[in-house]
Parts: sequence; structure tokens; C-alpha cells
Amino acid sequence: MIRELLTYISERPTLKEAKTFGHLFESISLLSREKRCQKTWATHRASCKQFIAAELKNARHYDSVLVLGSGPLHEIPTELLSKTFKRVVLVDIVHLKSTKKSVAHLTNVEFIEHEITEIEEALRVDKKLKDKVPAKFVDEDWGLVLSVNVMSQLPLHLETFIYKKLKKRFTEAQVETFLKGVTQNHLTYLQSFHTNAILITDTQTFYYDKNDKVIQTDHNYEHLSLPKPSEEWNWNVAPIPEFQKDVGMKMRVCGFVLKNINSH
Ligand SMILES: C[S@@+](CC[C@H](N)C(=O)[O-])C[C@H]1O[C@@H](n2cnc3c(N)ncnc32)[C@H](O)[C@@H]1O
Repeated sequence: MIRELLTYISERPTLKEAKTFGHLFESISLLSREKRCQKTWATHRASCKQFIAAELKNARHYDSVLVLGSGPLHEIPTELLSKTFKRVVLVDIVHLKSTKKSVAHLTNVEFIEHEITEIEEALRVDKKLKDKVPAKFVDEDWGLVLSVNVMSQLPLHLETFIYKKLKKRFTEAQVETFLKGVTQNHLTYLQSFHTNAILITDTQTFYYDKNDKVIQTDHNYEHLSLPKPSEEWNWNVAPIPEFQKDVGMKMRVCGFVLKNINSH
């Protein structure tokens, strides 16, 4: 806890939203959770990397790759991307100093701190629920775009912020529609690039008891029209007692290839 606090104080994220929406705090605690869950997360991380490696063949060219939700780079074959593409651009709202240091030897890797829904600032400053398809990077000539385990996370920080700071301002129905729009807009964003996009995201969450019996299943994207996944695997994201002392959480993770090239 003390080490986490010291890291929090020493980090200087560019965007205000990194702190006000809890992203910096989450990024630091993610590192500790990853250490605790290393064993059960290993297969998920390997599956993400293998899926990305196998689907690099979908690149339109190998000059550049854009990675959205790069975070601590645990699910991304960064060395391979660096060898395959001339330029690797990693985008996240927070890039910890330790992450940057870990790939400092890869001279063609760039970090950009950017808030990829492009609506958190409007919520913080104007207190507005904005419905926006993000636009940054779309007009650039990318060989391939990757979105790696970020889509399902996008509504979570917004939801927490609304319930903590703006609860009385909106109805539950307004908030629900807004949050569904966030993932829809991320999907539309990925589909609007002039190249193919690889999407890795958890599509279902299973809560299970001590006998490994599933007691609840949540479907994340019933409101979306996603293509058939190219790969699927399970991620034991919170083994008992990580989430609750007698309930664990697993996710179904899917890898999609969004074939945009032929649609332009
Ligand atoms: C589950 S982590 C992804 C981990 C990462 N793919 C890896 O290889 O380690 C989700 C990431 O999404 C980022 N994120 C969440 N909301 C974001 C937003 N609105 N804009 C940019 N990044 C965001 C978080 O900072 C975090 O790094």
C-alpha cells in the first residue's frame, strides 16, 4: 500500500482525467493485482499475444501500428510489434514510468497519453453526457489498429464518476443509454479506420461459487453487433478471494478481426 502511494505521488500524468476518473489509481493497483494473480492470468496474457501475432497478417502495410489500451503492456507482444512495424504507437490515458522504462530499448516505440472515449473532459467540465464517436488518429495512415482489453473498461470509470459526483443530475435510464453508447462508439471508432482493426475484449462475465458453480452470467455487449470472434478463451480474472471471499469471477474473452479495408 505504501509503495502504491509513493508511485501515485511520483507519477505525472498529462491529462487531468487520469486522476479525476481514477485511471492512475487503477493502473497502479492493476500492477499489484497482476502480481497476486500472475499464475491464473498467464494463459490469458499468452492468448492475447498469440492472437495478435497470428493476426498481424491483416495489416495493410508495416509502416505503423496503433495500439489502444496499451496500459502496462502485459497482453501485447511489444518486441514483435517493434520488429514487424517501423513505428509502434501506444495509446492509453496512463503510461506508468515503469512501463516506459521496460521498453526504452525499443527506439521505434512511442507513448501517447490520450483519453480514447473523448468524452470524459465534457463530463468533468460541462457535466454533460456526450454521445461521440472518437476521431483522433482516424485520418492517419495506419498499417493496423489494435484495441486490447480496453473496450469493456471504458464505461466503468464514467459510471463511477457519475455515481460519485453527478448522481442527482441524470436519471438511471439516461446513464444506462449513455454507457451503452460508449462501447458502441468505440466499436464504430475501430470500424472507421482505413485499415483493419483487431479487437480483444471480454464479452461475458461469470461469477462462480466455491464449488466452481456459475451463479450469475453478465453479457457485456447485447446492444452491439459484433462479427463472429476468430478466437475465444477464458480468463480467470479474480480467483476466490480476489473479488469476494466466496465468489470468484471469470471472463470469456474474444478476439475479433474487424475487416475495414474492403468497406472503404
Ligand atoms: C485491462 S487494462 C489493459 C491492459 C493492457 N492491454 C496490457 O497489455 O497490459 C485497460 C487499460 O485501459 C486504459 N483505459 C481505460 N479507460 C481509458 C480511456 N478512457 N482512455 C484511454 N485509456 C483508458 C487503462 O488505463 C488501462 O491501461
